[in-house]
Amino acid sequence: MIIFVTGGAGFIGSNFLNMFVLKYTEHTFINVDNLTYAANLINLDKVNSLDNYHFEKTDITDFTAVDHLFANYEPDLVIHFAAESHVDRSISGPADFIKTNIMGTFNMLEACRKYWKTGDNRKSFHHVSTDEVFGSLGDKGSFNEKTAYDPRSPYSASKASSDHLVKAYFHTYNLPVKITNCSNNYGPYQFPEKLIPLMIANALEGKPLPVYGDGSNIRDWLYVDDHNRALWAVIERGGVGETYNIGGNSEKTNLQIVTMICEILGQELNQDPETFKKLITFIKDRPGHDYRYAMDSTKLQQELSWQPQETLASGLRKTIRWYLENQDWLKSVKSGDYQNWIQENYENR
Ligand code: NAD
Ligand code: DAU
Repeated sequence: MIIFVTGGAGFIGSNFLNMFVLKYTEHTFINVDNLTYAANLINLDKVNSLDNYHFEKTDITDFTAVDHLFANYEPDLVIHFAAESHVDRSISGPADFIKTNIMGTFNMLEACRKYWKTGDNRKSFHHVSTDEVFGSLGDKGSFNEKTAYDPRSPYSASKASSDHLVKAYFHTYNLPVKITNCSNNYGPYQFPEKLIPLMIANALEGKPLPVYGDGSNIRDWLYVDDHNRALWAVIERGGVGETYNIGGNSEKTNLQIVTMICEILGQELNQDPETFKKLITFIKDRPGHDYRYAMDSTKLQQELSWQPQETLASGLRKTIRWYLENQDWLKSVKSGDYQNWIQENYENR
């Protein structure tokens, strides 16, 4: 297969490529990414020079460019990760979220509709989405595939819109689509503005660990490789037109997560965890902060036999070790060195 991976230079997409380009050498993977602040080609050092991997610097909001790629490569499968993904940024500047998440997805769907023959089920458009489309839970219950959409931030509203477009293309044009909605991911190469890498980075620098509100908001954490294994299971064996929820069954309050990070850092660095815990600082809450997310992944587990391989304790320790061993990566991403490198290397493209 020729596989387009949009957003392949971002956090989840680069972990996906690192796992599957090496594993499936019979497939050719085309990373379609316009390299926003969240992207990092250094994440792809392991696969960069392999024959079954290519990078195309393309903005999915530019239909002409997307059309050109489809004409050139004739992809069989599109795995659509590309998005603006940070809730806080969507609150301070929603426009890019509308453009990339809605218009960009629309362009990808239009290109599939144009180039793929109706009813050709060897083709597939896999849309990577989020649990946030379902809104906010109280203390009990969980989201399943039939839960009504109730997005509450510009980010989740833009992702919900894209999910609806994908479903509409299935019903209206018979486009072979699949959708997955996943809970909070963590792992290597996550940009340090998201909770877990931000806390690790700040703790290492002795900076405050900023917890929104009283830290009681709850997220369901999943190690990134477990998400990507679930995606591959759905790609291989999932039903066309179907949606699958993916979750880690690892609910924690934000304060619990930050405390766990401090304890693991203490153990790994042979330091008193209190040194890190003292840095915890409660700050003004995120506007419209969703209280709790929890995913019911029964459908995925029963129909496709998927199970997460990491527990939160093992995945978090692995992640913290990765950040400790890759402090140069962290420094370069934070210092803007990487953005300078992009400008130098891609200014004429
Ligand atoms: P990320 O922000 O780390 O990466 C996004 C990637 O998309 C970047 O490489 C960026 O350059 C690229 N991109 C953005 N706009 C683009 C455009 N106009 N054209 C081409 N490329 C563009 O995001 P992530 O955390 O890896 O998330 C990937 C996907 O998974 C997103 O769709 C997100 O909604 C979804 N998701 C994320 C999580 C999570 O916890 N991170 C959980 C569930 C679902
Ligand atoms: O649930 C899936 C979603 O998870 C994905 O769709 C998003 O792309 C991804 O960014 C993530 O969204 P969140 O808003 O849950 O992630 P974030 O890391 O920004 O925040 C996690 C929780 O931690 C949230 O309740 C807000 C809180 N938080 C976050 C930051 C950055 C803090 O308390 N302090 C912080 O500094």
